[in-house]
Amino acid sequence: MAKLTVKDLDVRGKRVLVRVDYNVPMEEKDGQMVINDATRIKETLPTLELLIENGARIILASHLGRPNGKREPSLSLRPVAAKLADMMHRPIVFVDDCIGEKAEKTANALRPGDILLLENVRFYAEEEANDPAFAAKLAKVAEVYVNDAFGAAHRAHASTEGVARVVARRGGPCAAGLLMERELKFLGDELDNPARPFVVILGGAKVSDKIKVIDRLLEQADTILIGGAMTYTFRLALGHKVGKSLIESDRVGVAMAALEKAKTRSVQFLLPVDNIIATPVETGQLNKKGRPVIEYQTPRVNDSLDIPDAEEGMDIGPKTIKAYCDLIPRAKTILWNGPMGVFEDKRFSEGTFAVARAVAGTTQKGAKSIIGGGDTVKALNLTGLTDQVTFVSTGGGASLEFLEGKVLPGVAALSDK
Ligand code: 3PG
Ligand code: MG
Repeated sequence: MAKLTVKDLDVRGKRVLVRVDYNVPMEEKDGQMVINDATRIKETLPTLELLIENGARIILASHLGRPNGKREPSLSLRPVAAKLADMMHRPIVFVDDCIGEKAEKTANALRPGDILLLENVRFYAEEEANDPAFAAKLAKVAEVYVNDAFGAAHRAHASTEGVARVVARRGGPCAAGLLMERELKFLGDELDNPARPFVVILGGAKVSDKIKVIDRLLEQADTILIGGAMTYTFRLALGHKVGKSLIESDRVGVAMAALEKAKTRSVQFLLPVDNIIATPVETGQLNKKGRPVIEYQTPRVNDSLDIPDAEEGMDIGPKTIKAYCDLIPRAKTILWNGPMGVFEDKRFSEGTFAVARAVAGTTQKGAKSIIGGGDTVKALNLTGLTDQVTFVSTGGGASLEFLEGKVLPGVAALSDK
């Protein structure tokens, strides 16, 4: 059933608690946390502007990172408040807590059009536990609840789910924000009834991450193009040699089942016919996460479906690029999730970038293109083509779960129209 949206609400003079997903990538520079990509902040501005225009008193809540219920200074939302103030050209009040007297007092003193950002809700373990008492404390300042945090809607946490239940029990409305509404429209309705041909491009490392999405899309798509390291699990299933490529040997069965289902349903299901391979060599060094640093030497095209024992598949090859880039322009609807190779390394980026150009070009000719997944968006940003696709999801895990057909708890908790 359709959910109430922020456009349906009368918010004049009311305190509106807005859950946003300001879980943005940050980095420490000269002792300060700097935001590397403000897309998730930018995408909430239409909702905030509408609420300001309608005279709401706005209280923003978000998580940042995974502080595990402890105060972690590097995961404070304070820098986000400064960024938001910059972007909106207006002051943003910040309180260094998300519940309690100070937060409540500040919220109650807001005038229509004022914005308050609360501190990281995950500084309390009760947030992820969806603790009812904590949800009730969060809800104290809220006459109305708006959820614009699509990226966190797959989490049944206090600020995404519990608080909506409390507000609804009091008879207050719980509505989707404009970003949430757009995400549900493009990843939901548009793909349920796609203009055809509907071409799906799926990449990324693991079959296990994508298998449920593949299974569901096999019922909707005309064509599925596979790239990324999950290729090698499919290759293994088909009896080929995969060398040192990333594989999930326990997923060979599901890979095979997907190939069978594609046949039964007459879905064109393409795997790469060639690859860029390289020799992985241990450097003896460890990276920041304590994992061994591997150097990839002598990259070259491998024209066979078998990969030599000492080599690893890193990207799709030129023949595959050509085949995929010939097919993509025939699409009327495109869904792309997951890079074709290790695009962070220039030597293995051509597959992903070529697909990005084909998707953008096809969109310019009238197709609808929907892009999901953090890595895909990162790659698209690197090509400078982000403005030339129809819709870029702000959700990573959330967009995958939604595409799998799962009910997202953050959406389910909103009021029906
Ligand atoms: C994300 O970036 O995936 C969302 O903000 C959710 O964060 P989480 O995966 O830490 O729950
Ligand atoms: Mg995540």
